[in-house]
Amino acid sequence: MARLLPLAAAISLLAGTAFAAPPDPVAQRAQALLARMTLEEKIGQLTQLGAEVPGPNQEKPEELIRAGKAGSVLWTIDSDLIARLQRVAVQESRLGIPLLFGYDVIHGYKNVFPVPLGMAATWDPALVERSQAIAARESWTAGINWTFTPMVDIARDARWGRIVEGAGEDTFLGIAMARAQVRGLQGPALGTPERVLTSVKHFAAYGAADGGRDYDSVYVPEVLLQNVYFPPFRAAVEAGAGTVMSAYMTLNDVPASGNRWLLRDVLRQDMGFKGFVISDAFAVQSLENHGYAADNADAAARGLQAGVNMDMASNSYMRQLPALVKAGKLPQRVVDDAVRDVLTVKLRMGLFEKPYGDPARKEAVFNDPAHRAATREAAQRSIVLLRNEGRALPLAAALKRIAVIGPLGDSGEDIKGSWTVEKGAGVTVLEGIKARWPQAEVTFSRGGDMQRAYALPWDANDGKPAPALMPAAEQQAELAQAVEAARQADTVVMVLGERANMSGEAASVASLALQGNQQALLQAVVATGKPVVLVLLNGRPLDIAWADAHVPAIVEAWFPGSEGGHAIADVLSGAVNPGGKLPVSWPRSTGHVPAYYNHNLTHANEADRNFTSRYSTDAPSSPLYPFGHGLSYTTFAYGAPTLDRTTARAGEPVKVSVKVRNTGAVAGDEVVQLYIHQRAGSAARPQRELKGFQRVNLQPGAEQTVSFTLGREELKFWSPATMAWGVEPGAFDVWVGGSSTAQAHAEFRLTR
Ligand code: NOJ
Repeated sequence: MARLLPLAAAISLLAGTAFAAPPDPVAQRAQALLARMTLEEKIGQLTQLGAEVPGPNQEKPEELIRAGKAGSVLWTIDSDLIARLQRVAVQESRLGIPLLFGYDVIHGYKNVFPVPLGMAATWDPALVERSQAIAARESWTAGINWTFTPMVDIARDARWGRIVEGAGEDTFLGIAMARAQVRGLQGPALGTPERVLTSVKHFAAYGAADGGRDYDSVYVPEVLLQNVYFPPFRAAVEAGAGTVMSAYMTLNDVPASGNRWLLRDVLRQDMGFKGFVISDAFAVQSLENHGYAADNADAAARGLQAGVNMDMASNSYMRQLPALVKAGKLPQRVVDDAVRDVLTVKLRMGLFEKPYGDPARKEAVFNDPAHRAATREAAQRSIVLLRNEGRALPLAAALKRIAVIGPLGDSGEDIKGSWTVEKGAGVTVLEGIKARWPQAEVTFSRGGDMQRAYALPWDANDGKPAPALMPAAEQQAELAQAVEAARQADTVVMVLGERANMSGEAASVASLALQGNQQALLQAVVATGKPVVLVLLNGRPLDIAWADAHVPAIVEAWFPGSEGGHAIADVLSGAVNPGGKLPVSWPRSTGHVPAYYNHNLTHANEADRNFTSRYSTDAPSSPLYPFGHGLSYTTFAYGAPTLDRTTARAGEPVKVSVKVRNTGAVAGDEVVQLYIHQRAGSAARPQRELKGFQRVNLQPGAEQTVSFTLGREELKFWSPATMAWGVEPGAFDVWVGGSSTAQAHAEFRLTR
C-alpha cells in the first residue's frame, strides 16, 4: 500500500538535526508532567469514566478521580456534579490534572438546532459554523468542554438509523460540513474561549454497515475508503479536530477500535492527526465480543497498541494495563506516547488555566435571544420543498380553518430529534401554525399513534419496555376523528414521519415505509378531497411514493429543533421562501437502497435506454427526488456555464462561471451546484460528482454570476491502479444547476 510521507516528516528527515524545530513549550510541559506521573496516574489519563452510567469500575468516580485514575468523565450534564468532580481533580488529586467532560452535544445544547442531516440540507457551511459555535458556548458554560461531534460518516443507505447524524451521502458536502462544525465548535484553534474540544467520529466507514443494520460489519474496499469515506475525516483533522472517535464495527474484518492501519497509518501518518483517539463507548472491551481479542487484557493491549489513546467507559485500560506493563507484556513507551497526546490536548486547550465552565451564567447564556433566533433561522434554511404542484404552497394568510393532523403534529419532544441534551419541549407544528394564523380556527387530531416496535437497547437494559402500540380499534377511532376534522377544514396540514427515537443510534429499519397507521391516515385524509400539505419530520428519506403521486405539496422539515414549529409555519405561510436541498438521494422504495447519485456508469452506452435502467422489471432506477433537489416559491434559470480556459495542465485551476437568474415573482435562495465527470482515466470515475456549491439569494428578476474553481483538490482522486492520489489528464464534463440532474453543460481537457 503506497504511503505518502507527511510533508513535515519529509522535511525534517531531509533537514536532519541541523534544522530541528525549536522546542515546543506545550510539548515540554507535557513531557515534564509525564515524567512526574506514576504508571497508575498515566493510565488514569487514558481512562474515561461513565458518571451517571458507570462502566465496570468498582469504585465511585470521585474516588478514582482523587486517586488520579481518570482523565475524563462522560454522560453527565449536571453542572454541580461536573464542577465538584473538576475540583476534586484539580485540587485533590496529586498532580491536579483537570478532567475533560464529554457529552453528545450533537445539534445544540439548550437551544436545539436541526439534526445534522437537516443542517446539511441548508448547504450553508457558514450557518453551520455559527450554529455549532452557539452549541459550544452553551456547552462550555454548563461545564461540558468536549463534545462527540461531528459525525462525518458518509451514509448511502437510509435504513441506517444514524444517517440522521451526518451530512448524508456526498463526500464533497460532507467535507464542507465537517470543516464548518469543527471550526464552529472548537474555534480557529484549541483554547478559543467559550468553545469546546471536538471529536470527529466514527473512524471509519461506520455508515456503510451491511444492510444498513447498526453496528454490523463493514466491507469497503480501499478505493472507496480513500475517495468516499476518509475525506471528511481528513477535512476535520485539517480543521484542527482535537480528538477522533474510533468506530464500533469491524472494517474488512478488523474492528475499527483495534485497527492499527486505520488509527496509525491512515489517521496519524497520512492525515497528520496530532490529537488523541477516544474509543466509542465500551469499544475496547468489545474487541473481545468481536471475536478479535482473546480476553479483556488482550483487548486492552490491542486497543492501545492499535492507537486508541482513551478507553471510553469500559475501564479495560484501568483494569488491565498496569499488570501488562509491570509484566513486561506491554512496553511502557506505548503508554507514555498515548498519555502525552492526551496531556498535549489538555494543555493546548488551556484546560489547566481554565478548568471550569461558568454555570452561574448558564441561564443567561441559554436565554440569549440570539441563540433562539439562530435555531429558527437554521430550521428555516434546512427545510426542503420536495413537491409543490399547482403552487399549492404557500398557504393563504386568510385561511379560516386549518386542521393539523398526524401523530407528530403536536409533539414538542419529537420535533427536536434524537440526541438532545436537556429535557424541554420544542415549538410544535400546531403551535407554530396557531401563532402564524392567529385569526384562524386551528384544530389538532393525532389520527392514531406509532412507536418503535422494540425499545431502545439502553432503555430495555434499564428494564423499560417499548411503549405499548395503540390497539387497532383505537387507531381506527382516531383516524375517523381526523377525517372528520379534515372535512371541517379549509386546508389540512398533515405531520407524518418518525418519532425522534425511530432515527439515530440503534434505530435502523428494515423498511422505509411510514410506520403505524400513517399511510392509511394519509390516504383517508386525501380522500376527503380537501387540500392537503404533507410536512415530514424524519431523520431519513422514507417511502413516500404514494404521497408523491397524490399530495400536491410535500415539505421535508427533518427534525428542525426547538423552534421547529415556527420555522415550518414560516415556510408554509410564505414568510420564508424555502431554499434547502436534499443531502441524500431519495429512494422510491426500500428496495432502492443504497441510493446515491455518484455511482459509476455501466457497460451500456448512455444512449441505449434499454440497458441504462439498472432495475429493469418493476421500477425505475432513478430516485424519487435526486440528490441536491429542492424547490422554491420562485423559479431560477441558468445560463450556459463558461470556462476561463478549455484546456489546462493537470493541476492548474479551471474557473467555471454561470449566470443564475430569479425568474419568478418573489425573492428566493438557490443552491447553485457544480458537478464533474472524468471521461476516461486509470480507473472509472463516478458519472457525476459534486465539486462546488454556493447558496445565493436573489430578488425577483435579479441575476448573479456564480464562479467555482476546479483545482487540484477538486480534480484529484485515489486510483486503485496507481494506489495513489493524482490528477489525470483527459476530458472532463461539467454541469451546473439546481440539483444533481443539472443540464447546463460544458467541457474541458487537462493535458500533462
Ligand atoms: C455511542 C455512540 O456510537 C457515539 O456516537 C457516542 O458519542 C457515544 N456512544 C457516547 O455517548
